[in-house]
Amino acid sequence: MGSCQDCPNKGILVPPDGPVPCPLAFVGEAPGHHEARQGKPFVGPAGIKLMSLMADIGLERKEVYITNSVKCLPNPTPHPEAIERCRPMLQAELDAVKPILIVVLGGVALQSLLPNTGKTISAIRGRIIWDGRRLYLPLLHPAAVLHNPGLAKEMKADFIRIPGALAKAVVMSKRR
Ligand code: URA
Repeated sequence: MGSCQDCPNKGILVPPDGPVPCPLAFVGEAPGHHEARQGKPFVGPAGIKLMSLMADIGLERKEVYITNSVKCLPNPTPHPEAIERCRPMLQAELDAVKPILIVVLGGVALQSLLPNTGKTISAIRGRIIWDGRRLYLPLLHPAAVLHNPGLAKEMKADFIRIPGALAKAVVMSKRR
């Protein structure tokens, strides 16, 4: 793993949560106050929304690996420098976790994991991407629906793509 020692931010580090190794990983943006207090990612309102979207497709929290692109609070917003500083830690985590599918939650995770798509999360959401190693499924961040309830239907439809993407990831990972 990378180290937070040299980071000027010196915030409260919120570690990832989930089994290692794990075939399915969710990568979000950055912890908020709920996460910093409980020391766990996605436990505030966005986390409750994420758990409900996961439950709709039969997934439980304990089955998946959940982490963030930016690891501590306070984090600078917008996040570009923090994304760069935290990227080695995220990559080291993923090397250990070895997911075959990563659900990329929102624009910050897209920028961290797939910085060269040249697309916004709204333009790329729902498209399965293979990088030669694993599959990625970029989706809107669950907080988006809290800010804009009109997105609820689309987001549900996007999450329904996860089981199919995971089945595809199993096939792709066997071909490698
Ligand atoms: N909580 C997290 O841990 N990550 C997010 O991206 C949002 C809320």
